[in-house]
Amino acid sequence: MCGISGIVSYKNVSKRLVKSLSNLEYRGYDSCGVAYLRNGQIEIRKDIGTISEVEARERLSDPVSCIGIAHTRWATHGGVTKANAHPHLSYHQNFVIIHNGIISNFRELREELSKQGYEFKSDTDSEIVAQLLEYHYEQTKDVEQALVDTIHRLEGSYAFATITPYDPERIYCTRHESPLLIGVGPDSQYIGSDLNAFIEYTKNLITLSDGEYAILDKDGYVIKNAMTGREAQREITHISWDAEISKKGGYPHFMLKEIHEEPQVVHTVMQLESEKIAKLAEMINEAKRVYLTGMGTAYYVTVIAQYYLAQLTGKFYNTLCADEFENVGEFDEDTLVIAVSQSGETYDTLSALRCAKNRGAKTAAVVNMLGSTMSHDVDHVIMQGSGSEICVLSTKAALAQVVALIRTGIELGSHFSPDQAEEFDQRRREILQTPQYIQQILDELSGIIRLIANKIYHITNWLFLGRGIYYAVSLEGALKLKEVTYHHAESMTGGFMKHGTISLIDSQMGSVFFVPPETEKKLHTDTMSNVEEIKARGGFVLGVHSGPFNPLFDQQIILPDAPPFIMPLLHIAASHLLAYFVAVKLRRNIDKPRSLAKSVTVP
Ligand code: M6R
Repeated sequence: MCGISGIVSYKNVSKRLVKSLSNLEYRGYDSCGVAYLRNGQIEIRKDIGTISEVEARERLSDPVSCIGIAHTRWATHGGVTKANAHPHLSYHQNFVIIHNGIISNFRELREELSKQGYEFKSDTDSEIVAQLLEYHYEQTKDVEQALVDTIHRLEGSYAFATITPYDPERIYCTRHESPLLIGVGPDSQYIGSDLNAFIEYTKNLITLSDGEYAILDKDGYVIKNAMTGREAQREITHISWDAEISKKGGYPHFMLKEIHEEPQVVHTVMQLESEKIAKLAEMINEAKRVYLTGMGTAYYVTVIAQYYLAQLTGKFYNTLCADEFENVGEFDEDTLVIAVSQSGETYDTLSALRCAKNRGAKTAAVVNMLGSTMSHDVDHVIMQGSGSEICVLSTKAALAQVVALIRTGIELGSHFSPDQAEEFDQRRREILQTPQYIQQILDELSGIIRLIANKIYHITNWLFLGRGIYYAVSLEGALKLKEVTYHHAESMTGGFMKHGTISLIDSQMGSVFFVPPETEKKLHTDTMSNVEEIKARGGFVLGVHSGPFNPLFDQQIILPDAPPFIMPLLHIAASHLLAYFVAVKLRRNIDKPRSLAKSVTVP
């Protein structure tokens, strides 16, 4: 949720540290701060506001130091105040920490240390970490031992790092159920809550596992297990992404840049090794029960995939929102759980996977972020390779995930029905055409969608409607509009709309219909009946379809006439553009909408 960064180096780190923080800002943007060691003392600069605002006020990058840690916050415990901003200092000012996650037993620990005379300056759960480090150092006079003793006292999820004048050339850090990566450079070592923290400086990455801690100095690192004290040997992963991908590249927003990358990411997924896809198909085939899970857009990806899988295999696969997994899921060793996640760090999705694993189920995931917890923890992972997605809204990553699951469906379908090989080859060829159709939408329809957005931006209540797979598409479309415009958008099937919600329809209520091609006769006819029902009640209707101009719609986005199999993918791309342009008109904070964060690593 929050962004963590740290650098220890032969050279001054302050400029790099603040740059690295800016690259992590999408993880949280209530407040931010840095801490350096200078002349044997800790120097902290922090405040509420965005990184550029705080940099302008507090000059975060002015100090010259070869070691520093930094944090950008998404508030959980304690309001958005300067006191609650990280880094946090211990009572005697000898340890400074940055923390991501939630320390669930912080109240008990706080009470205990208060009795020992420790005073607390913030309302956060995080400050306890600094105090505990200091408390345990007082007992042992050993920084590493103080870290281990602190780890043993903490409950909850955390990734934290500390620097201290007691050992002024090292960063100490650890993690438990919250991400933490190490970046290995020739003359500098880095830490980060994701690889955007240091991808500009090094492409050599190590993922810390739960229960491990690391000690970094300018020459290298050592990783140990906090329970056994034993050193862990780790292979370094080399990242192939270009740092350029984390830059806006001339687009006004990352969201627009990333929508424009949709053709490329679909192409990339189509090039992923067939063995990886075949292995997932095999796992599905061997399982007695299969669940697809995720949160937010990633969950909607699974719902869209559910329709595709049904079409390709003739079988029904369960989808379940990850946060409800433990409540209704039924798993044993014959169960397979397939998670979808851009970040690979989403708390609810990781919890669902752990819950399934604990009951003997097999796990797999489609993940974008290299080095993420999920990519390491599952039995089989498909790394989708869509490159960094910086906008808090997931667009290109989501589309690529759908395609990865369609490929899996094609593989499965070919296995179940070898006699239909030609048909499956045809589906493959159609998917390969998707990038060119989406490119056509980007090139030819962006202007029209923008014009429509400028006409409809004032409508604050929306229904997003569809039938069949177009219902699943409407779920994603509504979420995109909601999170970036702050307008209310609710999605449901065309059929369901008649059973209550239709009473909301009047001239103030907008409806977006995702209309299937006419070739899908029944779906198309039924959807158009729903359009008529809304029009008959004076509702405003925006139609997204691929047919001829239809005067029934108040506004319409006419998509290229692509093969029906890939039409839902085109609708997704159009819905992303629509949300973007409405948000532009409303002057929203597009890449960092209010209250959101890129990866939600807390319950
Ligand atoms: O990192 P994940 O894909 O696991 O994230 C899941 C959701 O938090 C995410 O999709 C969220 O709904 C996005 N803001 C959607 O644009």
